[in-house]
Amino acid sequence: MSETTEQFQKLYNSMFDFVNTCMSGHDPSHNPPHVHRVVNLAMRILSAEQKLHPEASYSGAVVKLAALLHDIGDRKYLPNMTTEGDESLDPKTMVQHALLQQGAPVELAIRVQTIVSHVSYSTECKDPAVIRRLIDEEGFAELAIVQDADRLDAIGAIGIGRCFTFLGAQGKKFAGESGWLMDNAIEHFGDKLEKLEGMMKTETGRKMARARTERLNVFKGWWEEEMVEST
Ligand code: ADP
Ligand code: NI
Repeated sequence: MSETTEQFQKLYNSMFDFVNTCMSGHDPSHNPPHVHRVVNLAMRILSAEQKLHPEASYSGAVVKLAALLHDIGDRKYLPNMTTEGDESLDPKTMVQHALLQQGAPVELAIRVQTIVSHVSYSTECKDPAVIRRLIDEEGFAELAIVQDADRLDAIGAIGIGRCFTFLGAQGKKFAGESGWLMDNAIEHFGDKLEKLEGMMKTETGRKMARARTERLNVFKGWWEEEMVEST
């Protein structure tokens, strides 16, 4: 199914509504505007990569849907309950179920689910070889694009905003007795955000990540300077 057809547009619009329903109550680090930025970044990377590598084959429909649905099933935002056996609630099948409900072809629904299930940073850290195999050997080139787009939104000025927002909303769960500290956000730069540039999979994503990582470094430098001034 090509992303330029009316049939695709109809499917995309209904999944857009589904994403808004599922995510509009989330804090602004993972709400619909995050998803819409990731869709736009993914389509920008796709178009640049198609120019750089005209021989490569990407499905625009898969990129666009996987970017739109990439945070559906994120366990951080799901209620703690048993969902085994219910495809519409199980994080491993939610996306595919929603797509099939809206009449998506089975193969498209399965491809998008596979990508969504492998986008996250923590999944990659657990087993980077699985991700490499999917992209390089099993024909999921679109995973590289959606991952890069999601990671670009975690760095640069917007990434800084999301990091503080996430901790402001969810920090109690992650910090100890003393509650969350703004220093936890700066720690997260080193724990994860500064590593993302080196994990970019596309040439376009890597180039954009360089500029955004530099912004993180500048911000961190200002932070340290001001902390010294106020000690
Ligand atoms: P991914 O989807 O790549 O696994 P996450 O959804 O875990 O990424 O995180 C997305 C963004 O949310 C992070 O880049 C960060 O801004 C914020 N975030 C998530 N977990 C933490 C954390 N433990 N501390 C600070 N920020 C966090
Ligand atoms: Ni995301």
